[in-house]
Amino acid sequence: MVLIDGKKISLELQAEIAAEVKTLVANGKKQPHLAAILVGDDPASQSYVNNKVKACLNVGFKSTLVQFEANISEQKLLSKIAELNADPDIDGYIVQLPLPRHISEQKIIESISPAKDVDGFHPINVGRLVLNLPTYVSATPYGIVELLKRYNIPTEGKHCVVIGRSNIVGSPMSILMAKNTNLANCTVTLCHSKTKDLKYHTLQADIVIAAIGRPNFVTADMIKEGAVVIDVGINRIDDDTAPKGFKLVGDVKFDEVSKKAGFITPVPGGVGPMTATTPGLSN
Ligand code: GUN
Repeated sequence: MVLIDGKKISLELQAEIAAEVKTLVANGKKQPHLAAILVGDDPASQSYVNNKVKACLNVGFKSTLVQFEANISEQKLLSKIAELNADPDIDGYIVQLPLPRHISEQKIIESISPAKDVDGFHPINVGRLVLNLPTYVSATPYGIVELLKRYNIPTEGKHCVVIGRSNIVGSPMSILMAKNTNLANCTVTLCHSKTKDLKYHTLQADIVIAAIGRPNFVTADMIKEGAVVIDVGINRIDDDTAPKGFKLVGDVKFDEVSKKAGFITPVPGGVGPMTATTPGLSN
């Protein structure tokens, strides 16, 4: 079994981007500037955004973090977005999700200029992804494709089963893996909460990508010997022995699945670190 080291690959990727940025700036081009909007104080979102700001620093991007209290009005948030859309110094930005319930996520996403939508969440960018046109690709699916590539994991003609159909991960992931490119070309099955006999599907998979947000959901009996297992889940579960009273586990029951898998991503240290590095990369 090979443990896929997302931390190591994300640092490699950052070093490559840093070299590109250095050349860009040395040639008199503008230093890239990424902004992030964080609403509220959800610890997972805070940590996610902090990691993106850190990644900006590592690659030589300018970064701006815009923070709002959870009770900010939708109108105020839309005004800030209009400001970022109009600011020529801002090349791209993200609005960290989820947003508080009184704010329409769809309205916010649709107000982001597609040209600055480094998350690739705007309907225009999702459409461009489906149509195989150059676009921003959402960070988690992009990071996973990059992990498969850098571990030389063959994908062409393989059966990839994606579990979960969210707009952020499962849905774009299934589109990317089915693309006619040498990084994908899989036969893809997209499974979700209404799938009948999930195990029937996962047992046929050469590559399983679990993005359902349910701790330890994928067990060894669901996995074919030697399969590649990518775990997108980051779930907090109570643990009295841990200093903070909880620990992070994935959607995959790592202890048992790792004995059967050919390749597997750990949690933490697998997909997570990639997602802070990949926003803004385009296909
Ligand atoms: N929340 C969880 N993942 C993401 C992501 O990739 N981008 C944004 N904006 N919010 C998220």
